Amino acid sequence: MRAVDIGTVEDFVSGDARQVRVDGRVLVVVRIEADVYVLDDRCSHEEFSLAEGEVNVATCEIECARHGAMFSLKDGEPMSFPATRPVHHYDIRHNEGRLEVMVP
Ligand code: FES
Repeated sequence: MRAVDIGTVEDFVSGDARQVRVDGRVLVVVRIEADVYVLDDRCSHEEFSLAEGEVNVATCEIECARHGAMFSLKDGEPMSFPATRPVHHYDIRHNEGRLEVMVP
């Protein structure tokens, strides 16, 4: 497991999804207030970019903009059809004011 720096919490706008490339991986980073969530930026239904979708701050979910599947930002689990498989979720570590994604 490697820790890869992606910036600070302030680099991300609360309620927005942003694509970040790390180590050859394409990730979607979502900040909700002080919390930051990271998933693979690839819907498990038809591999569409989740960074294009809307964040539901109240339920901590992101909606795929292509067919509307919802995924939990907390663990990448699908919360609605047409997706039935999870999206890979990455742990985040706070290190002296910096955010680090834990990459296997
Ligand atoms: S590609 Fe995401 S729901 Fe179909």
